[in-house]
Amino acid sequence: MKIAFVAAEAVPYAKTGGLADVAGSLPKDLEQLGCEVKLFIPKYFLTDDAEHDLHYNWDIGEMPIRINNVTRTVHVLQGKLPDSDVEVNFIDCPHYFHRRRIYTDDWDEDERFILFSRGVIETLQRLQWAPDVIHCNDWQTGLIPLFIKDNYSWDKFFDHVSTLYTIHNIGYQGQFSKSVLFSAEISGEHFYPGGPVEHHDAVSFMKTGIYFSDLLNTVSNKYSHEILKPDLGAGLDGILSERKKDLYGILNGVDYEVWNPETDKYIPHNYSAKDMGGKLENKKILLEHFNMPFTKSLPLIGIVSRMVAQKGFDIFADAIHDLIELDIQWLILGSGEEQYEELFRQLAFKFPKKIGAYIGYNNELSHQIEAGADMFLMPSHYEPCGLNQIYSLKYGTVPIVKKTGGLADTVHDWDELKYFGLDTGTGFTFNDHTGIALSSSVKRALDNFHIKKNWKKIQKNGMSKDYSWKHSAEQYVELYKLAKKKRG
Ligand code: ADP
Ligand code: GLC
Repeated sequence: MKIAFVAAEAVPYAKTGGLADVAGSLPKDLEQLGCEVKLFIPKYFLTDDAEHDLHYNWDIGEMPIRINNVTRTVHVLQGKLPDSDVEVNFIDCPHYFHRRRIYTDDWDEDERFILFSRGVIETLQRLQWAPDVIHCNDWQTGLIPLFIKDNYSWDKFFDHVSTLYTIHNIGYQGQFSKSVLFSAEISGEHFYPGGPVEHHDAVSFMKTGIYFSDLLNTVSNKYSHEILKPDLGAGLDGILSERKKDLYGILNGVDYEVWNPETDKYIPHNYSAKDMGGKLENKKILLEHFNMPFTKSLPLIGIVSRMVAQKGFDIFADAIHDLIELDIQWLILGSGEEQYEELFRQLAFKFPKKIGAYIGYNNELSHQIEAGADMFLMPSHYEPCGLNQIYSLKYGTVPIVKKTGGLADTVHDWDELKYFGLDTGTGFTFNDHTGIALSSSVKRALDNFHIKKNWKKIQKNGMSKDYSWKHSAEQYVELYKLAKKKRG
């Protein structure tokens, strides 16, 4: 099975969130299962050619690609995903991708990913490598299924190429003005009220992907049901319901080569479920780093997150006056919306012994927080999958999460299971999106933290869970087979 895996970001080259973790790891597991996988991402300015040993493919040479009636010159750089044979193809067009950030608010954001999508398709043509499936991810790749079925349908090369579209987050849809019809050369026949590319009189990349792809999936089972309802469907629940029989849920796996306390290269002390000594040492070092005192009886709660409404900072802000009274310390790493960045700056300033904040992006520190904290909080409004709670389980860092999407699928409430006579819980969960619900589950976690026997058991339960990619990668292979059959 040949798979072209297309995403806007991938570890270790460019990352803003979980999509990069997925795109940098799933292809390797697919390869282990016998697939031939080529990964496609844009060549951003921040990706260093020398560091990653990238080379131009001169056989492909220069690709002229017309966007918005201007022809741009595109090259392809190639490398290998670390510890694998997965070939990575970087679509290189400095005009669009040499910017300070991966995603921008620039006026031509749509053009950047139209070019990327066309660049992928034209690279496939030039490589003369026809994949069985083009696996598209999120809005940035949403036009590819349409291009294959329409703009490039003149080329017999794509006759048996099918498409799978994975929705990592329906909250980001890539919605742009009608001028996209012209700049991407999309036929006007697809644009009419309620039509395949139209959404609120604009062009929606995500809706287009949902409409034209052969099959669809999201990154957890629960989220695949949640997006069919208006509450979490973000306006696309209608079209998703129409395609319900083609929509699957496959839980993300994680890369335990990177996220494993026994081998993690970013943490001062490695540790395991058998010997947790290193975890306490990591906590001491982490607190020292933030100039916060270490007190054995005080648990430390970590947060590592994009600071956006999706992640539930609204209810955190509602709860903070209650939470600050508790005997708990907090460490927050993240960046995003100004109001939340400012909230944490102020909290850290006001309560320096209790709250530490690092506003920004810091990969090393994200590992150190996973390793040093006692608990990890994710109060997301919605969460398609979520990776940090899965990392937390492996690091013996007990997750406290809202029962939504992938969080609900991966974290099992200790007290709830206790009620049924089971001691298999792995964390603490709450249902209502309110500050009160959040703080009451933090209080339950705090109570159990002080019951040593319970806490050890909760940690061990989580650490023994296996969310590696193997099982999910097998499910993707099955989905690829179905997609292939569908296209014929
Ligand atoms: P999302 O993709 O919605 O942001 P996920 O939980 O799937 O949420 O993935 C987030 C990923 O990004 C995790 O690997 C997390 O460690 C990382 N991350 C988020 N914010 C930061 C940050 N400020 N610094 C370092 N890593 C971060
Ligand atoms: C998105 C989602 C997150 C998911 C990630 C990877 O960014 O918000 O829940 O884990 O994609 O699939």
